[in-house]
Amino acid sequence: MSKPYYITTPIYYSSGNPHIGHCYTTLACDAIARMKRMQGYDVMFLTGTDEHGQKIEKKAKEAGVEPQKYVDDIVARFKVRWERMGITYDRFIRTTDPYHVESVQKIFKELYDKGYIYKGEYTGKYCTPCESFWTESQLVDGKCPDCGREVVDAREEAYFFKLSEFGERLEKLLTENPEFLQPPSRVNEMVNNFIKPGIQDLCVSRSSFKWGVPVDFDDKHVVYVWIDALSNYITALGYKNDAYNDFEKYWPADIHMMAKEIVRFHSIIWPAMLMALDLPLPKKVYGHGWITFNGAKMGKSTGNVIDPFILADRYGVDAVRYHLLREMPFGSDCAFSNEIMINRINSDLANDLGNLVSRTVAMVLKYFDGKLPAGRKDDPMDNELKQMAGEVGKIAETAFENCQFSFGLSEILKVVSRANKYIDETAPWVLAKDESESGRARLAAVLYNLLETIRIVSVLLYPVMPFTM
Ligand code: ME8
Ligand code: MG
Repeated sequence: MSKPYYITTPIYYSSGNPHIGHCYTTLACDAIARMKRMQGYDVMFLTGTDEHGQKIEKKAKEAGVEPQKYVDDIVARFKVRWERMGITYDRFIRTTDPYHVESVQKIFKELYDKGYIYKGEYTGKYCTPCESFWTESQLVDGKCPDCGREVVDAREEAYFFKLSEFGERLEKLLTENPEFLQPPSRVNEMVNNFIKPGIQDLCVSRSSFKWGVPVDFDDKHVVYVWIDALSNYITALGYKNDAYNDFEKYWPADIHMMAKEIVRFHSIIWPAMLMALDLPLPKKVYGHGWITFNGAKMGKSTGNVIDPFILADRYGVDAVRYHLLREMPFGSDCAFSNEIMINRINSDLANDLGNLVSRTVAMVLKYFDGKLPAGRKDDPMDNELKQMAGEVGKIAETAFENCQFSFGLSEILKVVSRANKYIDETAPWVLAKDESESGRARLAAVLYNLLETIRIVSVLLYPVMPFTM
C-alpha cells in the first residue's frame, strides 16, 4: 500500500477575486502533490474557500445579493482559475458546506464541554455607520479602517478560547521540534513576538453579525473566524462528519502551506486547538514570502492584484507556473515584474530548454531517421553530463520536499545547460561525417545521452510544467 501524503493550501477568503498571490501557494502545493504522486505516494491535496464573516456579509449587502450567492460567485471564479492553471487538487472544501458547518459546531461544543471555551465579554471599537466591530489594532489612525470615520467604544458578549493555557506547550513545540515551523526564521518571530510576551485568550464567537456558523447551544452567537477556518483541514477528511472518511488515513497533515501573515494562526492557535481536542499535530507548517507588486504585498485590500488568467493568456500556463516557482526565493518576498518574467522565459525555457530539445530532435531525425541504433560507443567525455543527469532527480525531490522550488529548478536547468555545452563539445555534425561503424556508434551514443538527459529533465519539470512536459 502506498504511503499517504496530505498537503493543504489555506482556504482563501471569498471576499474578492483570486490573484497570483493565491496562485503562488496553490501552485507550490500542486508542484509538491504532483512530485509526490510520481514518487508513488497516495496524495490528498486540499484547497478551498473561507466564506463566513462580517466583511463578506457586508460586501454581499453592498452588492445587493444574499451572502450565499455572493460567495458562490467568487468560489466559481477560484475554481475556473485553478482548472486553467492545471491545479490537481483532490478535494475542495467550502466553509459553507453543510458537513463542515456540522463539524465546526461539534468541535466548538467539545471545546466548550471540556472547559476550553467560556463565555466572556469582548471589548472593542464600533463604527456605527458601517455596523462593524474593530479591535484597537485594526484601526487606521484611530478611525474605522473601512470608511475612515470615528469609532466608539463597544462591548459585546462573546465566547473565548483559553489560548493562554497553551503558552508553555507551544513554545516547546516550536523550539524543540525544528521541523514543525519552516523556514526556521519564522520560529524566533513567533516565540519572541507572540509567545514570550504572554498569550491572551482568543475571541471565538460574535453576536453582532449573522453570517457564520451558528453556535448551536447559544444561537445569538456565530463562530468567529479561526475555529471555523482552521478546522477545515480536518473536517475535509470527515472529522466529526459523515461526508468523508479519510481522517485516520491522512491526519496528521504532512504540510500546511501558506504565506507568512497567517503563520501565527497556524503555529499557535491551530496546534492549541488540536491539543485541546487531543489530536495529533501537523508535521509541518510552511510560511512562504509575499508576491509584491508596485512595492506592496499583492492583495485584495490594496487592490494591486494581477489575475492569473491574464498572465496565462499572455505567456501560457506552464511559463507562469515555472516563473512563479523559479523566481520566489526560499522564505523571502518576491517582486512580480513582467520584464523579469519575460527574461526568465526567454533565457531558461526558450534558449536553454527549447534549444536543447529542438537541436537534439533535429539531429536524431537527420542522422538516424528518428530512431537510434542499439550499438553505442561511450567516451569518458560523457561522464560529467551522465553524472549530473543521474544525480539531479534526488536533488530536485529533496528541494521540492523542502519547498525550495527555486533551487530545485535551477539545479534542473543546470543539467540543461550542461547538455547544451555537451552538444558543442561533442559536435555531432562533425561526428556525422564519419560513416564507419564506430563513427556511427559514437554519434548514436552522443544523441542517446542527450535524449536521456531530456527524458530525465522532462520528468522532473513535469510537476511544474505539466502541459508542456
Ligand atoms: O488568510 N503573496 O485568506 P486569504 C503570496 N482565509 N501569497 C499570497 C499573497 C501574496 N501577495 N496574497 C495571498 C486567509 N496569498 C484566511 C486563511 S486558513 C485556515 C484561513 C496567499 O484569502 C497566501 O497563501 O487572505 C496567504 O497566506 C493566503 O493567500 C491568504 O489568503
Ligand atoms: Mg489575507
